[in-house]
Amino acid sequence: MKVPLLDLKAQYAKIKDDVLAAVSEVLESQVCIGGAKVAELETKIAAASECKYAVGVSSGTDAILSSLMSLGVGRGDEVITSPFTFFATAGCIARLGAKPVFADIDPKTYNINPELIEAAVTERTKAVMPVHLFGQMADMDSIMAIAGRFGLAVIEDAAQSITAVYKNKRAGSIGTAGCFSFFPSKNLGGIGDGGMVVTNDENLHHKLVLMRNHGSEPKYYHSFIGGNFRLDPVQAAALLVELPYLNKWSRARRKNAAYYDAKFADTVVQTPYISPDCTSIYNQYVIRVPRRDEVVAHLKANDVGCEIYYPVPLHLQECFAYLGHKPGDLPESEKAAREVMALPVYPELTDEMQDHVAGTILEFLG
Ligand SMILES: Cc1ncc(COP(=O)(O)O)c(C=O)c1O
Repeated sequence: MKVPLLDLKAQYAKIKDDVLAAVSEVLESQVCIGGAKVAELETKIAAASECKYAVGVSSGTDAILSSLMSLGVGRGDEVITSPFTFFATAGCIARLGAKPVFADIDPKTYNINPELIEAAVTERTKAVMPVHLFGQMADMDSIMAIAGRFGLAVIEDAAQSITAVYKNKRAGSIGTAGCFSFFPSKNLGGIGDGGMVVTNDENLHHKLVLMRNHGSEPKYYHSFIGGNFRLDPVQAAALLVELPYLNKWSRARRKNAAYYDAKFADTVVQTPYISPDCTSIYNQYVIRVPRRDEVVAHLKANDVGCEIYYPVPLHLQECFAYLGHKPGDLPESEKAAREVMALPVYPELTDEMQDHVAGTILEFLG
């Protein structure tokens, strides 16, 4: 039996006619930049995230970049974030000439450990960027308390956690801004790159709208430098078709996660920990296993998809050598990088497929 890590074709098959019709509508209209589809998606994502405003942008990366730019983060500033995340989180900070300052993770949730943030604050710190990893939100109460004490902006990297819940609040609605990605592998994945920033701050919203369009207001007059960070209406049209399914798909992922949890109970496989404060959308189902690299090789040899998110924590990436980190500096992130692996958890997975995935792992580990 073959079990891919993700089966986008299975999902597309169910919505194909509607996606094609929606995309065709955009093409027939020839409104190929901006327009009603982008505005409608913004309204609906803002509502789904319980935020006042949303700004469609070209990717999750550009959601982060344009948020940092709109908050005035630049040369000489510091932004505290997690080292255990996709590269974009810290890459955007560094691209602006600011310094990514890494605080280690909580080994249970893989999210930034709030207890380590305060020690990382200096007079140059401008913002904190927690990452809601794998579909579960970070400990936002503690993070907001520290940010409040030091007057820091909070940018939620919610690329993997759209509509996830922390204490009855939605991802993106607690900090100064929240950033989503519509990369195809996300719970709400487009037909290409796309992203969105949500916020409750009217001024920030206005700045973001200009920022995604080279800071232009009025047209061809620029009081600050932005970029082309616009979301295509073709993407918005496809995402509008998918959005009504998002909760159902996330529920299916939670059901699949619970099924694995039961299969791995009382074994050497360490299943994901979800805080009682959180509802995860399980963008990834990440386990810790002994002999991780051997398990990964064995699964791949047996046509079972799996992936290591992430094999190298960001403080040890070659491009960040100038920050002067060495192995051992952020031990929980380094340990996670050695021990974790993600299993297929996508909505269309069947019990038989999950039995096969779990069985292949448990059989191998004896
Ligand atoms: C945590 C995190 N941040 C940022 C991004 C960047 O999003 P995108 O790939 O849409 O640019 C991703 C997605 O890959 C991500 O997982």
